[in-house]
Amino acid sequence: MANDYVRIFDTTLRDGEQSPGATMTSGEKLEVARALARLGVDVIETGFPAASPDDWKAVQTIARRVGDAPIPGRPSAEPPLICGLARAHEKDIQRAWTAVEPAAHPRIHTFIATSPIHREHKLRMDKAQVLERIKKMVGFARSLCEDIEFSAEDAGRTELDFLVEAVTAAIGAGATTINIPDTVGYTTPDEFGARIAHLVANVPGIDDVILSVHCHNDLGLATANTLAGLKAGARQAEVTINGIGERAGNTALEEVVMALHTRRAMFGLRTGVDTTQLARMSKLVSTVTGMTVQPNKAIVGANAFAHEAGIHQDGMLKHTETYEIMRPETVGAAQTRLVLGKHSGRHAFAVRLRELGHAIEGEELDRAFERFKALADKKKYLTDADLEALVASELYQAAPLYTLDGLQVACGSMGLPTATVRLVGPDGHTHVRAAVGTGPVDATYKAIDGVVETECQLLEYLVQGVTEGIDAIGEVSVRIRGQSEDTRVTAQGQAQPWVFHGHGADTDIIVASAKAYLGALNRLLQASAQSPEHTGEDELKVGA
Ligand code: KIV
Ligand code: ZN
Repeated sequence: MANDYVRIFDTTLRDGEQSPGATMTSGEKLEVARALARLGVDVIETGFPAASPDDWKAVQTIARRVGDAPIPGRPSAEPPLICGLARAHEKDIQRAWTAVEPAAHPRIHTFIATSPIHREHKLRMDKAQVLERIKKMVGFARSLCEDIEFSAEDAGRTELDFLVEAVTAAIGAGATTINIPDTVGYTTPDEFGARIAHLVANVPGIDDVILSVHCHNDLGLATANTLAGLKAGARQAEVTINGIGERAGNTALEEVVMALHTRRAMFGLRTGVDTTQLARMSKLVSTVTGMTVQPNKAIVGANAFAHEAGIHQDGMLKHTETYEIMRPETVGAAQTRLVLGKHSGRHAFAVRLRELGHAIEGEELDRAFERFKALADKKKYLTDADLEALVASELYQAAPLYTLDGLQVACGSMGLPTATVRLVGPDGHTHVRAAVGTGPVDATYKAIDGVVETECQLLEYLVQGVTEGIDAIGEVSVRIRGQSEDTRVTAQGQAQPWVFHGHGADTDIIVASAKAYLGALNRLLQASAQSPEHTGEDELKVGA
């Protein structure tokens, strides 16, 4: 591959999914993986297969269904590499291998911490033991799979000499990609770039492998550090859509791709990503994870291309480049008006959905079409954004245990806000409850609680208009925490509380609110129904 090509390694489904509350169902993971493949990423890190049987299954399903054949609409004819994460333990590596094996291009990604603080307090291993483990486990992984990535966890705080030794050991044992993570988001661009340059200059055999960077955003420097690493010689960037991830998140894919695209003359680097799909990809990930995108987020925020200040508008009218360095169309942010309306047929609707990347058919398509017709009756113009919201709220919800069958609300300043809900439960029976509350949403949620009868705490409630105008669809996102003590454990061995999100869209925001809350409750109920091995907690309590 030409030396100006930067591989995009997307870890939305692994590191991104580690953000509290961003848990996705296996159906959602498959949909995101398909969309990433169409977007043109080179590698999809699909999960941490040793974490639980569910995680293993989700990775294997993606390997089979996204990694094994050409993807329609993908810029490249080759399917993406499918990667599974494994700690430097034989059992983890074996699990990762069986999960990714069905892919045309499988990759095992194994890691161990190298920094003094991790060696001493987490691993309780000295340098020699860490080197020994790297050689053994990278060698073992290589005996299974030809494509091996090795990460030196907390490389940003590892002594440079020891980092050189660790990377040399991994290459000697057969690693084909070497990843340098700034795990805790500690470094600055100059420092991080110098670290990469030092490895390029001092590691024997470094030219025979791909050098990769993986930066966290604790100081808001993830994109800057990643770009500094690429300038210094790295040719793989590890990123997530919208920059989601634990704490302050990972490097945002859209920022790195658009920086390289917009400043091509300066960097002299390119990626295989189709930039016109970035806005849509951002929306999909925000919907399925419940992680809303801040309006001023670079590239994909709602205001990223909005020019409010009079002086800016005047300049823009005279020449767009006065204040705009990228065109909204380049990232797919310009709203397209649907030429479909209430008289359009199911076929035209399905074709447009396919163009937007949603390959749905059969009963799912029937349901979505029914919703489309109902919406087209209420709204004069439908945009692609309306359509995306509709599909997302109907299709990417947890498999429903409870569904909303009816809702009536009385509110205003003349009486107590009252809601009556009709839900269909897992037993197929209809349940009706009424409740009063401090407002219509509170009353609705209390009525739902009366049927579902599970304890939970509402952490976040957010309403947004999808499009402009009084008839716009309203989207609601909620985040709840169950009362149980359950936690899940991340690849790095940290316990996190189970937080669940839900999403609903409707022209009536109280209906959207009810759907969002039910979506989150359904996820909570499903997770509670799983056995403790769902979290892989016992197995993962050990550090890496
Ligand atoms: O941040 C990190 O160190 C990681 C590794 C597992 C690559 O996510
Ligand atoms: Zn990470």
